[in-house]
Amino acid sequence: MTDPVSPGSDAASADPQAGKHTIGIVGPGRMGVGIATAVLMAARNHPLVLVDVKTRPPGTEFAALQRAREEIAANLRLLQELGLIDGDPGQLLETLTLSRDPAEELPPCSLVFEALPETTTAKGAFYAESGAYLGGAGVIASATSTFTLETLREMGAPPDRTVAAHWLNPAFLIPLVEVAHAEWTDPAAAARVVGFLESIGKIPVQLRSSPGFIVPRIQVAAMNEAVRIVEEGLAGPAEIDTAVKAGFGFRLGVFGLIEFIDLGGIDILAHAGNYLHATLGREHYRPPRSVTDKMAAGEVGPRGGKGYYDYHGVDTSRLFRDRYRGFAELLRAYAESPHLSFRGGIHTGSEEDGKGGPEHAETREEG
Ligand SMILES: NC(=O)c1ccc[n+]([C@@H]2O[C@H](COP(=O)([O-])OP(=O)(O)OC[C@H]3O[C@@H](n4cnc5c(N)ncnc54)[C@H](O)[C@@H]3O)[C@@H](O)[C@H]2O)c1
Repeated sequence: MTDPVSPGSDAASADPQAGKHTIGIVGPGRMGVGIATAVLMAARNHPLVLVDVKTRPPGTEFAALQRAREEIAANLRLLQELGLIDGDPGQLLETLTLSRDPAEELPPCSLVFEALPETTTAKGAFYAESGAYLGGAGVIASATSTFTLETLREMGAPPDRTVAAHWLNPAFLIPLVEVAHAEWTDPAAAARVVGFLESIGKIPVQLRSSPGFIVPRIQVAAMNEAVRIVEEGLAGPAEIDTAVKAGFGFRLGVFGLIEFIDLGGIDILAHAGNYLHATLGREHYRPPRSVTDKMAAGEVGPRGGKGYYDYHGVDTSRLFRDRYRGFAELLRAYAESPHLSFRGGIHTGSEEDGKGGPEHAETREEG
């Protein structure tokens, strides 16, 4: 496997497109609008073309594009109101062009974000033509949430110049973008996508292409488990959401998942996994092989000098103090914000009582 180089490496800095890009986005739907907003809010003045390739009834050819432009404008106005952008939304929109002509507009693009429906028909029709749509130096980043790069290659995507860029909704607010490459991906193509995403303030994470990326795999496992707890009558949806907001998710925002395994102790995960596997009888609780291997090797986290991370030379007391400061800052933000709440349940924040609550849900309008 060839690993894509990290931004700032030789291949990234040798990229003739480094820093200056013409961006194409194909598909003016939810993700297309989100990605366009993310690009424009960074105010980097990259020319941006939003392309609709769907056949539409005569007279409505530009309807979806115009609707998308209105949504992008509304997003930018909201971001301005929230103090997340300095620029004037009208001015930021000036770099946006709407187009129905991929063969004309996409070849000059150095980076094309494909955000078409997750079907082999919609994506397949696009990738079958992608050779004609892509200029000599263009790279495609597919927003696919399930297709592997092998599937996209079978549809006709240029293998060396296609990566998957998995954004999370709302794309303009969630920092993470998972960037997946395959053995056959040109490292410079992945480096370009990563470099561009970083330049617009995103946090790209690179991984090898496989079904489910990182987040959906962890998320689906956790979501299924939450639903099973409801089905078993052990707790209601609001209790589960409170547990996640006030505990599981709150802690993960500071520690991450693997770091937390290490800092808690890999042996703790092994014991918990063994107990839940024995009592609930579900295979996915059984400790993974590296957990038992690490326990046998004494690599149980900071106590053993090593876990999934290396702790030699790391001042763990200081590490914990830093993380605790992070918790303190988050607790302060929660205490001060009318929009952050540890409580589960469907409710909107309230300017008056500070937190809103499920009891208000039936009487208060959304927003
Ligand atoms: N919505 C999400 O939360 C989310 C999150 C991550 C990734 N994704 C991925 O992003 C991609 C786009 O998803 P979305 O939610 O924006 O979809 P969407 O349905 O909102 O948007 C798709 C766009 O393509 C157009 N379209 C519909 N049929 C078409 C066809 N046959 N040919 C060409 N264009 C067609 C639609 O009119 C629309 O403008 C998918 O690959 C999806 O898996 C979505």
